[in-house]
Amino acid sequence: MTTADERTTTDYDHHSVDYAENSRAINAELRAKCPVAHTSAHGGFWVVSRYDDVIAVAKNDETFASGYTVDGVTPLGVVIPSSPVPMFPIEMDPPDYLPYRKLLNPLFSPAVSKSWEPRIAKWVDTCLDQVIEKGSFDIVGDLANPVPSLFTCEFLGLPIEDWKLFGDVQHEIIYTPPEEQGPVIERYMQVVGRVYETIVARRNNPIDDVISKLVTAEIDGEPITDEMVISIVNLIMAGGFDTTTAVTANSLIYLADHPEARQHLIDNPDAIPTACEEFLRWFTPQQGLARTVTKPVTVGDVELEPGERVLISWASANQDDAAFDRPDEVILDRFPNRHTTFGMGIHRCIGSHIARNELYTMVRRVLERMPDYRVDHTNAQRYPTIGVINGWINVPATFTPGERLGSASLPGA
Ligand code: HEM
Repeated sequence: MTTADERTTTDYDHHSVDYAENSRAINAELRAKCPVAHTSAHGGFWVVSRYDDVIAVAKNDETFASGYTVDGVTPLGVVIPSSPVPMFPIEMDPPDYLPYRKLLNPLFSPAVSKSWEPRIAKWVDTCLDQVIEKGSFDIVGDLANPVPSLFTCEFLGLPIEDWKLFGDVQHEIIYTPPEEQGPVIERYMQVVGRVYETIVARRNNPIDDVISKLVTAEIDGEPITDEMVISIVNLIMAGGFDTTTAVTANSLIYLADHPEARQHLIDNPDAIPTACEEFLRWFTPQQGLARTVTKPVTVGDVELEPGERVLISWASANQDDAAFDRPDEVILDRFPNRHTTFGMGIHRCIGSHIARNELYTMVRRVLERMPDYRVDHTNAQRYPTIGVINGWINVPATFTPGERLGSASLPGA
């Protein structure tokens, strides 16, 4: 038994350039040699890397808290280092957390998410229409970033003409180094302003959108405060935008680089959802999230103490050969595929049905409308670090021009 005093230390840092470049090898070494490892990075934390341990920690929300503070003072929550402001309700624990999830669940149910499919398809085609005659586009800037933003504005009830501000801020905040974030934070404050204006408008005049549902709901007999609604809306944007952007960009790059796989999906579009499930496993857009230990507990053969921080590596779990046959290969028809990409336990991703639909639709329509697209690898830029999102800044591509399906331009253009 390893105690907290004899911890196995590593130099693991999910935000390091080394991790961005060698994440699969780093995760494999952790799983093999040190599946519950301690690092001194970012004030010190444990990283849990084996599939079974990841599931056990994520499902034990009593012992592994998500709350922004556990002692009422120190910022903790689900990211390492901690976020400067809390994100609710993801950084809450039961019992306070449960009524919020109960309120949100019906808005994201499989049936409701399915009813949004035509709108997602419409936004995908409108984005592709803007570039189809040119023969060139940026997979991130013209498609994978705009679609989640356009869709989510419509879904939440935010002003649709501001989709670019919302989408760009969520994308840029992820890859801009902390010392250069001033201008992005300023624009982030503009986003918060727009959200607040919408909340005020909906409190006075509710309509059929998510923000109206939030401002007219009650928790324990009280209306939800404006601050809480702002936090929930921000979380839906932060959780839903760049994650989806990242996996779509990675999937389309993979298909451009693997012509047989691309042709297989062009010939068999029904195989796209199962293939996308494998892309979700393989690329794991959100690589890992944190918890805080609330009571003494043993994970693997390591004893953890209250107050210690733990990073749950969804990415490493997805690469574990104890859970996946040939995990180091992309197997387009892998089934079953019990990946951890959307998390596990009570905080499991509420937007997974929407995310899947956005991803399937973007991949399908690109393969249908620009089947010979080629990625310009020389000018494609990956995120310098992938500790928050495993994504791309931009991914230029070219293709044989085609025809528009409609004449609409994007809102606000
Ligand atoms: C491929 C895309 C996505 C990935 C990889 C992803 C990943 C995740 C993960 C891993 C969690 C679990 C957090 C935890 O355990 O602490 C989560 C939670 C969440 N996700 Fe997603 N997500 C995606 C798309 C979306 C979308 C499209 C939305 C909304 C439209 C969304 C909204 C949320 C929210 C609100 C939570 C918090 C749920 C709670 O605390 O109850 N996500 N997501």
